[in-house]
Amino acid sequence: MLIKTDRDGFNHPISSEITPQAVYRDRRQIMKWMATGAAGAALASWAGRQAMAQQVQRPGKLAALQAVKSGVAGAATMEKVTEYKDATSYNNFYEFGTDKADPAKNAHTLNTKPWTVEVDGLVKKPAKYQLEDLLKLSAQEERIYRLRCVEGWSMVVPWVGYSLAKLIERVEPLGNAKYVEFISQADPKTMPFVGSRVLDWPYTEGLRIDEAMNPLALLTFGMYGEVLPNQNGAPVRLVVPWKYGFKSGKSIVRIRFTDKEPHTAWNKAAQQEYGFYSNVNPNVDHPRWSQATERRIGEDGLFAKKRKTLMFNGYEAQVAQLYAGMDLKKNF
Ligand code: MTE
Repeated sequence: MLIKTDRDGFNHPISSEITPQAVYRDRRQIMKWMATGAAGAALASWAGRQAMAQQVQRPGKLAALQAVKSGVAGAATMEKVTEYKDATSYNNFYEFGTDKADPAKNAHTLNTKPWTVEVDGLVKKPAKYQLEDLLKLSAQEERIYRLRCVEGWSMVVPWVGYSLAKLIERVEPLGNAKYVEFISQADPKTMPFVGSRVLDWPYTEGLRIDEAMNPLALLTFGMYGEVLPNQNGAPVRLVVPWKYGFKSGKSIVRIRFTDKEPHTAWNKAAQQEYGFYSNVNPNVDHPRWSQATERRIGEDGLFAKKRKTLMFNGYEAQVAQLYAGMDLKKNF
């Protein structure tokens, strides 16, 4: 590429026109390979990489969900993305069983069409949204978030959705609305473990309204460029990346604004173990185990290194101000 320059300063090249060093070096390398006959092999491996990229684009063969790259601070990480097969076969979705393999085996019975989400409680404009209308409310963004489960495993997933704040602004919460409650589908006909005594159904979760308004909180419709697979919470779930995974309710049917802290499913099941806030915090142990380290799913094996868990799961810069002055040991 010819780099144009001139003296009056009006004709500088835009940065995309400048051949980056690395590409330039690659070209010289290719010319050397051509000369030695290694080009065929190099091209074959290039074709292999292209094929892999294709696979990543449609990993689950579900409907594609177009998304723009998110401009929200913290919405991207340079970490290796967890493989689709791992993120979709090792799940917690107790409505379909308590074993990690159960949701992928059993969630095919979940009926996602039609789907409505009722938004009500202390809001000026309560509404019942058809999923299609909810999808159109704002542009879909891709956000590569870590999600860390309270049980000590984590994953890095390219989620697709938009900030929950967009929906909240639309319904105009009243001045006395302090919390938001998220209620999941609980249909014993299609969800075989609803009715079991592990949890008090429906699965409910909650956030303080300012937490829910933080741009990182994602109303999520897809992952890996496709609609959500059932086992990951189709057709719409929450992803709150700075909190333990159980705060991210799946298959949501109702979002309710209240003036009182909602009773959440896990808090009701074991009050001493699961507090309302449940921010990822390596310094506060779960009563039965440490929270200081984690294991990335798909990286198991004898020699897989445990990773240190980060405060607020690595999103401290974006969310720490929400908890200024709070005792995070008491408000676990
Ligand atoms: N939502 C519902 N409705 N039911 C559940 O059992 N499990 C939670 C959360 N959301 C759960 C849920 C827990 S404990 C975790 S760790 C995450 O979902 C797991 O999300 P994933 O399966 O997509 O990794």
